[in-house]
Amino acid sequence: MDDRPIGIFDSGVGGLTSINAFSEVLPHESILYFGDTARAPYGSKSPATVVSFSKETAQFLINNGAKILVAACNTSSAIALDELRRQFPGMIVQGIIEPCAEQIASECTVEDSIGIIATPVTVQSGAYERAIHAIAPGLKVHALACPDFVPLIESGSYASKTMEAAVDHQVGQLVEEFSINVLVLGCTHYPIIRGIIEKLFPQLRIIDPSAALAKKTKQILEENDMQASEWPGQRTFYASDLSPKFLGVIEKLGIKGDYALLQHRL
Ligand code: DGL
Repeated sequence: MDDRPIGIFDSGVGGLTSINAFSEVLPHESILYFGDTARAPYGSKSPATVVSFSKETAQFLINNGAKILVAACNTSSAIALDELRRQFPGMIVQGIIEPCAEQIASECTVEDSIGIIATPVTVQSGAYERAIHAIAPGLKVHALACPDFVPLIESGSYASKTMEAAVDHQVGQLVEEFSINVLVLGCTHYPIIRGIIEKLFPQLRIIDPSAALAKKTKQILEENDMQASEWPGQRTFYASDLSPKFLGVIEKLGIKGDYALLQHRL
């Protein structure tokens, strides 16, 4: 048994889209979340900067008692995990891409055409394709960077006509060029615009990796005998900047249950 919190991090508010999945799959676990809202977005920064920011965040979570590090952030998962494991050798570090690849490999066949939308850094890294093809080499995977999505969501315009036009253009490109029938939300912000994607492209099977990440975390805790005792966990969400926009997105996410929201600058 281990009652220390699970440390979950993201570049910003997006990782909170995975909190309901964690609370559902791991109701007894305490969660310590850090969203680096002051320095987001990560997805258009240089890989070296993303690695450096991810290390600082991981250090904060470890200093505050995290028993495991979980990168909800796709961009950090794409490029920073090896460095985090080198820097913090005693910690288990789990990213979001590998469990999503396992889900895709178990649910999809060579008949499917799988689109992945993500940030430019994630797409340039090729991390999704590598992780999927390591398990299921025959699957057809098409990744597309959507650099406009995160700034629009962060600015609070996630329900606007501009957002709809951007989704129509970018996802439409994958549908037209590759006839995709499966779409992976390869960025933590995108579940916020899932309704728009479903409205414009109702034929697509959408995969949100957060449930797979929560299930993988549960499996790791069980394998390492690190589960919390049988009581409801405490949830503490830190953000490096608590802007009104951030608070608005939290409201939009409809996070169930109690949590404390605090600011901490790295
Ligand atoms: N959290 C990032 C991800 O999942 C998206 C936002 C950003 O670019 O910082 O890739």
